[in-house]
Amino acid sequence: MCALASSPAEARRNRATSLARIADQADILASVVMGVMLEAQHVRARPTKAFFVHTITRDIELEDCILDLIDNAMDGARRLLGNPVPKLLVKSDFSKFLVDLKFNESEFLIQDNCGGISLNDAINYAFSFGRRQSDEPEDYSIGVYGIGMKRAVFKLGKDIVIRSTGTASAEDDRDEPYRVIIDVAKWVASDDDSWDFDLESDDALPHPGVQIVVRDLHETIAAELSSRVFETQLRRTLARDYARFISQGLTIRVNGRNVGLYEFGVLEGDGIRPAHVEHVLRDVTVEIIAGMGARPSDTGDPDEEGDKEDLSGWYLLCNDRVVVAADKSDLTGWGYDAKNRWHPQYRGFIGIVLFSAKAAEELPLTTTKRSINRDNFVYRQALARMIELTSEWIAYTNRRKAALVEAKAFEKAAVSVSAFETQHRREAVYPTFAAAPRVRAITIQYPKPQRAIRELAVSLGDPGMSSREVGSRSFDYAHRELVGGGE
Ligand SMILES: Nc1ncnc2c1ncn2[C@@H]1O[C@H](COP(=O)(O)OP(=O)(O)OP(=O)(O)O)[C@@H](O)[C@H]1O
Ligand SMILES: [Mg+2]
Repeated sequence: MCALASSPAEARRNRATSLARIADQADILASVVMGVMLEAQHVRARPTKAFFVHTITRDIELEDCILDLIDNAMDGARRLLGNPVPKLLVKSDFSKFLVDLKFNESEFLIQDNCGGISLNDAINYAFSFGRRQSDEPEDYSIGVYGIGMKRAVFKLGKDIVIRSTGTASAEDDRDEPYRVIIDVAKWVASDDDSWDFDLESDDALPHPGVQIVVRDLHETIAAELSSRVFETQLRRTLARDYARFISQGLTIRVNGRNVGLYEFGVLEGDGIRPAHVEHVLRDVTVEIIAGMGARPSDTGDPDEEGDKEDLSGWYLLCNDRVVVAADKSDLTGWGYDAKNRWHPQYRGFIGIVLFSAKAAEELPLTTTKRSINRDNFVYRQALARMIELTSEWIAYTNRRKAALVEAKAFEKAAVSVSAFETQHRREAVYPTFAAAPRVRAITIQYPKPQRAIRELAVSLGDPGMSSREVGSRSFDYAHRELVGGGE
């Protein structure tokens, strides 16, 4: 408290003394704070759980998260089979393995019989976010980063139960059934210093494996999981992306129905054979198959074939899992160096590249496993070879234009075989034709009403005739009638 001043001069003196005292106190305070700051060796930088969950789940699609969970089951199955090499001509028996998915607007369930996560692995590694340098990589696994399972369950919803019954093994006498329950809201709200989940013992599952149930689904996820379109699309993706496993016996079941077998077919016959080359680059084996997947388009006219799903292009697999499908972009060399940009004339091409590596971190995979790291050394080497194989196909589609009837006869006689069974061959074989006398030809293109084209096709004797053929025949007809010439 301040004493009352008896004169203005004394009041000024009093004010000055008070100010000096305040300044002294501020000095003392500042030096205490400085002392504390100097003693502190760190500033707080760890992420909040809420930020972490949001960040890891935001750039991945629901479908790719589901694939992450199936990948883990496939890694478990491969481990039980003794880690066979994922090479095209090596056959393994996946027929005893099942991945069963069931979902609706309120619940997502996935259960497998692929050996489970041992208690030891669960405690020390499987639930950690990211692999530690000291963690032993699994042989020929798809898993590499140590995040997929956690990211997938966080993406799905907020009430998560992961149950596992591990295969008993001689080294692991602690192996017993357990469950891990994650109440995401509670976990996120709790102290950021503890990131662990609780584990408790549980009844055994019917078969050694993992069961994951997620409830309290996020709103957008619940909407997708209740949509028929999503289920149909997921089935298609699973059939294609696990074709290597399904073709070796694996069953994937979605809402009670088995996913079908997607045939990676390639045509073989007189004058038509795919290339199948193999290179070892660093520690990655690269197998490339390229050839005629289907008979090329008759018309090359996108208007006419636009509705059909075009399966042509490159398919890239890492340790047996498809990560890029039917690609026609510069990622796989189309339009590379401003050349050979994809064109409907090239329809029918199929190229498959299988990258296999004992240590999955050598693979050119992105973290979402839905693309390829194009800067990866191994991928750049493979791409050079892929571009050569694409050029062979492009050359053929140009050649065949001048000998269409002959080309079609070759193509029709060829039969589709499994691309995974083709023999090694350095280059693809495509038909060659006796050089035809060079007649300068000009392509005529003009729009006409679809109905009129169909009417003309009927009048020309074949309602299913392509528009290109209708145009060509009506030109011949007019030429014959008006000029009197024969084409
Ligand atoms: N269904 C399963 N069967 C057997 N083991 C599993 C299963 N799911 C998870 N695991 C174990 O849990 C670990 C962690 O899985 P998670 O998907 O999080 O990471 P990852 O597979 O190692 O790497 P990535 O992030 O590339 O998927 C796996 O390495 C595996 O050992
Ligand atoms: Mg994984």
